[in-house]
Amino acid sequence: MCGIIGAVGRGADTLDVLVHGLSKLEYRGYDSAGVALADESIDVCKKAGEIDELRAALEDRSIDGSVGVGHTRWSTHGPPTDENAHPHQDCSGDVAVVHNGIIENYQELRDELVSAGHTFRSDTDTEVVPHLVEEQLRGGADPEAAVRAAVSRLEGSYAVAVVIAGIEEIFAARNDSPLVLGIDDGAPRGPDRPNGDKPRGGAYYLASDVPAFRDHTDRVVYLDDGEFTVLGSDGWRVTTLAGEPVEKTVDTVDWDPEETGKSGYDHYMLKEIHEQPRSLRQSLSERVDELGGRVDIGDLADLNPRGVQLVACGTSYHAALYGAELFRQAGIPAQAFRASEYATSPPPIGDALVVGVTQSGETADTLSALREAQRRGARTLGVTNVVGSTVARESDHVFYIRAGPEIGVAATKTFASQLASLNLLALGLTSTDSTREIISSLRDLPGQVQEVLDGSGAQAVAETYLESDAYFFIGRELNYPVALEGALKMKEITYKHAEGFAAGELKHGPLALVTNQTPVFAIVTGDDELAQKTIGNVKEVEARDAPVIAVTDGQSDVERYADHVLRVPETHPRTAAVLANVQLQLVSYHTAALLDRSIDKPRNLAKSVTVE
Ligand code: AGP
Repeated sequence: MCGIIGAVGRGADTLDVLVHGLSKLEYRGYDSAGVALADESIDVCKKAGEIDELRAALEDRSIDGSVGVGHTRWSTHGPPTDENAHPHQDCSGDVAVVHNGIIENYQELRDELVSAGHTFRSDTDTEVVPHLVEEQLRGGADPEAAVRAAVSRLEGSYAVAVVIAGIEEIFAARNDSPLVLGIDDGAPRGPDRPNGDKPRGGAYYLASDVPAFRDHTDRVVYLDDGEFTVLGSDGWRVTTLAGEPVEKTVDTVDWDPEETGKSGYDHYMLKEIHEQPRSLRQSLSERVDELGGRVDIGDLADLNPRGVQLVACGTSYHAALYGAELFRQAGIPAQAFRASEYATSPPPIGDALVVGVTQSGETADTLSALREAQRRGARTLGVTNVVGSTVARESDHVFYIRAGPEIGVAATKTFASQLASLNLLALGLTSTDSTREIISSLRDLPGQVQEVLDGSGAQAVAETYLESDAYFFIGRELNYPVALEGALKMKEITYKHAEGFAAGELKHGPLALVTNQTPVFAIVTGDDELAQKTIGNVKEVEARDAPVIAVTDGQSDVERYADHVLRVPETHPRTAAVLANVQLQLVSYHTAALLDRSIDKPRNLAKSVTVE
């Protein structure tokens, strides 16, 4: 969704810090960008389009200030135009505001403000905020009190940051939309960090996500809903919206800035596909005791769920389908739900454990589903990639997948780490007699992913079927979520139609769509009854002259019916699904690259959908 960056204490560097920070938030998806800098007055520059448009506009302007905010907007209220871009200002031009979220009562507030003589320039809900602040200032409130009072009028979701002419501070608040502070108070680095680099005088940042200021500090403070913060060049403080001080801890993020660079790859997505051996090792490290034949999931092992309900969206929903299968195989009733449907009509929960699978930890539908589960008395577990994310802080328990930051909008390495993590949870929460076998397959998984990456034939397959208008993906049981995920990746980044099916369902209707122009990716691993039945489905499509691409470990004879083979190493069915998915990630990536698509920022999509 949108992105916010704010900085104070960086003096003449402030504008560069803001624009650089916005570029680090591009992955969240946006269609306009802008900055506001404050000294005795406020300078605003904002443009529809990408950040390069903003950079070009800034070249024609000399704007400076020692405190400022920036924003990338993903249009919700009003089209992406210069006027609708953030920051938004009041009538006097002395207040500038950036905002993520949706102000549900904005029309009522706008009507009230227009009646009080305020003039609006945009179609956005956000623009009510600077005018509310202006109204308070006109009434004699001091700047901080004016912002508190303005924010107190808002209903809905917001991460909002305000600068005011003549004030070297940023006022910000959050409710249902992430906001994190970056602290660089010049204090010595931690014991493991030599104090070699001379501490700079205090500089303080705020953002929707850590990458925006990670180049400047690794010390962060995660704001919670209902909290208000004041950042100044002499320090920072957090209170409730009413002004009660709130004690916050300063955390240290454990990943380095270059992890959010492309490291020489053409796209973040390709880099993150190739990072999977490392990210899987991170996900598994210190959690698998091969000699003892056990996994270590900490005190989660005491949860002892009698049933599991998984809630998620998109790729994470596919991981949830996979996870439900793991629990079912262990004899625990389990079901995966689309979070967007669960939130409005949850099933009876009983004493089930409700598991939210969300790499960003900010997906509004998933958060709503978990809040509804909690309202109904369920225990909740967040499975997420982002420390300090909303799901991590609101769930009763949290399990981090440790994939490292994922910048590409299309989820890749985080999906693999979700599957690995769900294996750890299923093994740790249940007892199964194949634990040792599964553990050793998990141990081998990172190296086998590397094998797939080193020898994939995906590029040739992408070239062969580049002109196709539709792609089918079929699989059974644990390979069914992978079929769905393969189709989603193809849709997301190539903009071509693709569909995943449970292999046995083809003959019940979808087979009518199959022609000799419909490449069918068949995921067939092992040589058990499941594989044989899927080969039966392959024969159905092969009989209609459809080209077949077998994603297989070579244990069955599916290759006899295939036009292409994407090979994966032999392994346990649980980890074979992860390996097959790597092949499909590469097919969609190479297809999109050949089509010259905007791979890291596909049209209409955002990395984290923080609105319902
Ligand atoms: C997947 O490639 C997409 N980025 C999207 O489907 C995503 O998985 C979904 O929005 C859920 O995001 P989350 O894991 O952060 O909750």
